Amino acid sequence: MNVVSDIYKKSSKFNNPYIEDGFDFLNHYCINDVAQLIINMSHSQFIGDLQNIRIHVNNRLLNYFDRRKFLEAASTNEKNFVEFLDSYFGNEEFLIFINKAGIWSEKILSTSAQLCKDFIKSFPRNSLSIEHHIIIGRYIRTPFGVHMDDSVDRVLHINLGPGSKNLSLWDKDTYVNANGSEYYVEDDAAISHLASSYEFRAGQGFLLPARFYHIGSSINEISIGVALAFTKKTAGLISNQICTEFKKITASFDEVKGISYDNFELSDVKKLFVQALDECIKVEKISLTDLIEIANLREWSNMCFVERTVLDYSRLQGINGSFSIKKPFSIEQYRDRRGCHFFARGHSLSITDSVTVQKIEDLLSDKSFDLCIDSESDIRSLDAVDKFKTWLVATRAAEESNISRSKSFSETLQHEQQFSRCEPPDKTSSESAFQIAAE
Ligand SMILES: [Fe+2]
Repeated sequence: MNVVSDIYKKSSKFNNPYIEDGFDFLNHYCINDVAQLIINMSHSQFIGDLQNIRIHVNNRLLNYFDRRKFLEAASTNEKNFVEFLDSYFGNEEFLIFINKAGIWSEKILSTSAQLCKDFIKSFPRNSLSIEHHIIIGRYIRTPFGVHMDDSVDRVLHINLGPGSKNLSLWDKDTYVNANGSEYYVEDDAAISHLASSYEFRAGQGFLLPARFYHIGSSINEISIGVALAFTKKTAGLISNQICTEFKKITASFDEVKGISYDNFELSDVKKLFVQALDECIKVEKISLTDLIEIANLREWSNMCFVERTVLDYSRLQGINGSFSIKKPFSIEQYRDRRGCHFFARGHSLSITDSVTVQKIEDLLSDKSFDLCIDSESDIRSLDAVDKFKTWLVATRAAEESNISRSKSFSETLQHEQQFSRCEPPDKTSSESAFQIAAE
C-alpha cells in the first residue's frame, strides 16, 4: 500500500480532513522541481498556456504582460527559488496558482504516478481522473475569499515548504447557517470562530474533502505546494471526454466541407455539419462504444492524469541504446473497425497494417527494445516499427537505459532546455504521429 491509498483509508474514503506526515519531500517532489516547472512553462511558445497561471499581488490579479514578466524573471533567475520569490515580490502579499501543472513537469507527473499507483489500480478504469495544481504564496488570506472547490474533486495539498500553510474549513451546514446563504464571502472574520483550522508544515500533506468551504493562508513565510485534485468521474465528464475524441476525428471535415474561417459567407453550417457528421460515422465507422473505450484508454495509459506532456522528438537524433516501458505507466491497445489504436502517456497512434500491428505487439510483450538512429538520418525514413519506437520515446512512455549518443549531438543537447522545442498538444496528437509511424 502506498501513501495515497493510506490517506484514502485514514480519511474515511476522502470524506474527512486529514493531515499526513508521510511525505518525505526529498524523496518525492521538491521545491527545485516546481522551480523547473515554471522555467519549462516560461519556454512555452503558446499564448493559451498563460491562461493556466494566475498571480495575485496584494489581492490584485496580474494581467497577461505582468504574468509573462514574472515567468521570464523566474527563467533567468540564478538565485535559490525561494530567495527569488522573496526579492521579486518584496513585502507584498502574493499567491500564484498554476492549473494542469503536470504538462510542464515530467518529473512531477512521474512522481505523482508512483505516489498514486496502488490507489489508482484499486478503482475501476475510467472512474477517476487526476490533475495537478501548484500553489505558491505568502498571503494572509486567499485573495478570492472563502470558497468551495468543484464538488467532484478531493484535493491532496502537499506542502514542500519552506513555510507552513493553513486551511480553515467549514462544513456546508455550518457555513450556510452562519452565513445565511451559500454565497462566498471575501472576509471570513464574522464566521472564523466556527472554522476548523489545519496547519500543515513542509513535508506534510493535507486532504481536503469535497463540499467543504475553505480559505487558506501562508502568513509568515512562503509556502510552495503541489495539490493533487482527484476527480470522481460523472456521466457529464465522460460525455466531455467522448466529445473531445470525436472532435479529433471530425476536425479535418471543417476544411473538406468549407466550414472554415475562410468562407465567411457560408450560411448553412448546421446542414453541412450534419452531413459531415454523417459521413464521418459512415467513413470512419466509429461507434459510441469505440469512443468511450478510446477516451478511457487514453487517460488510463497516463495513470488517470489529465495532463499530457508534449511529444518530444528532440532527444532521438543520434541515439543508440536500449529503452524500457516506463513504470508504472502502461501501453494500452484497442481495435475497432478502423484499425488498431495504441495509447501511451495520453497520446494515441493508429495503425491499419496487420503485419506492423503484430510486430508491435511482439515488441510490447518484451517491454523493452533497442533503438539506433544516427545523427544524419531522417526519422521519417525509418521503418514502421522503428517509427513506433520513436513515438514511444517521444511520449516519454519509454525510458532510456544504456544510451550512448554521437558526440556532436550530445553537445547540442546539453544546451537545449527540456521543453524548448515543444509543439502545441493538438498538432502533435494522433494524426501527425500516425503519419510518422505508419506512412
Ligand atoms: Fe480551494
